[in-house]
Amino acid sequence: MTETTKTDLTKFRVLVCGLDSVCRSVLDKFISPAQFVEVPYDLEKMAETKVAPEPLILVFGSPPAGVKPNEAAQVARMQYPNQSIYYLTSNRENFDRAEFQKNGFTDAFLIPIDTEITTQTIKDELARASKGAIRAYRPVQLVDLRPNETLDFDTYMYMPANKKHLKMTAAGDEIDPSRHEKLTKSGINAVHVGSDQIQKFYAFAAKKLRDLQKGGPGLSETERKERMTGAIRGLMASVFNDSSSDATIESGRNVVADCQAIVKDFITEGADKNSWYAKMLQVTGAEAGNYNHAGNVATFGALFSLAVGIGKPEDIALAGLLHDMGIADLPPSVQGKGPHERSKEEEEEYRKHVDHTMAIIKFRKMILPDNVTKAISQHHERWSGTGYPKGYAGPRIAAEAQILALADQFDYLTMTKDGRPRMSPPEAFKRIYQDCLDDPANARFDLELLKKFLVLFPEDAA
Ligand SMILES: [Fe+2]
Ligand SMILES: [Fe+2]
Repeated sequence: MTETTKTDLTKFRVLVCGLDSVCRSVLDKFISPAQFVEVPYDLEKMAETKVAPEPLILVFGSPPAGVKPNEAAQVARMQYPNQSIYYLTSNRENFDRAEFQKNGFTDAFLIPIDTEITTQTIKDELARASKGAIRAYRPVQLVDLRPNETLDFDTYMYMPANKKHLKMTAAGDEIDPSRHEKLTKSGINAVHVGSDQIQKFYAFAAKKLRDLQKGGPGLSETERKERMTGAIRGLMASVFNDSSSDATIESGRNVVADCQAIVKDFITEGADKNSWYAKMLQVTGAEAGNYNHAGNVATFGALFSLAVGIGKPEDIALAGLLHDMGIADLPPSVQGKGPHERSKEEEEEYRKHVDHTMAIIKFRKMILPDNVTKAISQHHERWSGTGYPKGYAGPRIAAEAQILALADQFDYLTMTKDGRPRMSPPEAFKRIYQDCLDDPANARFDLELLKKFLVLFPEDAA
């Protein structure tokens, strides 16, 4: 939303109705105050009067007592048949995405877990509905854009300092090899493409893959990531769906099977001991986000398992997908905060997410292999015994849990926050090692395990 300064934003209105403050703050980050039209949750009135000029999109929050969200959707759909109508709530109770969509909502989001996907979806839709007057961008993986290939779309770099997208190459240009290398070296794995041109990127990536591997169409790294995120979101929606609260062994088995399909299709397929490092480099530097985190930790965990031969990659990936589910049960104010932003009380609250995760697994009757359960329940234990929830120390902690914890911290250290990757992969490993060395009384990992990783770095990465 950075190139809209000269545009008259009042032409691109966003109708909001009944948003709570947590949900509203998500929109406030990228929609200007001049764009909002706030209407009361009065369905009679809504059925009689139409907002003029028509809003570009509509966003509804949880209705007051006595009104069902689906009634709001139906009334709004009658008045605004062509607009996207979203449902945004921070209340997990009765959240059923499929049901909301059936009744007229274009999509439904649960905040804060859906914050990033909400932002991307609404930005894209504002860009589409304003016919490009409002700009939106999508990240594409740099590995999908090799140097010296003519691109038929523009690429942009995000400049965190002034929050602007700067054009890097124009349609018809190529990315020159030195620039490509420079980006990769500085840990930047993604550039941006305008969401109006994203289809061109997909077509480009698909054609290139066809040329490369004559067999199947394959998946570009960008699409692999997007599909995995979409699959994880669908998975979490089914886990959190309260209308299916009568979980059975059968439904639990289905959820586990869905997880295993995600692991097989997007993570372990084609990964082996020789390719783990290259794959890891491709996955690091993703934008922070709950579904990204689950997918990354699953992926890093599987790759680390392959690298040092500890545990089964598919088990650790499965644990990675599920390990932080319980965060959704924390108060919204605690959910969005990083480890250094939480107060003492919030930290205590945050620590309960492990037990919440285990409770969800139990409630959904998901039967998991023992080492998967241990990896999840012990992913915040520390080798020194100062972790939580149990305070287990040393070999009392399952080896799989240490691998998962390593993937967890590694993702935190290498993810992109506010447009900048925090650390390169070798820097992150060294930081983790150094921290354990400097403060053994609080060490999260077994130094012997970390040493196994340090010797695996290629020379030039050291
Ligand atoms: Fe966690
Ligand atoms: Fe985590």
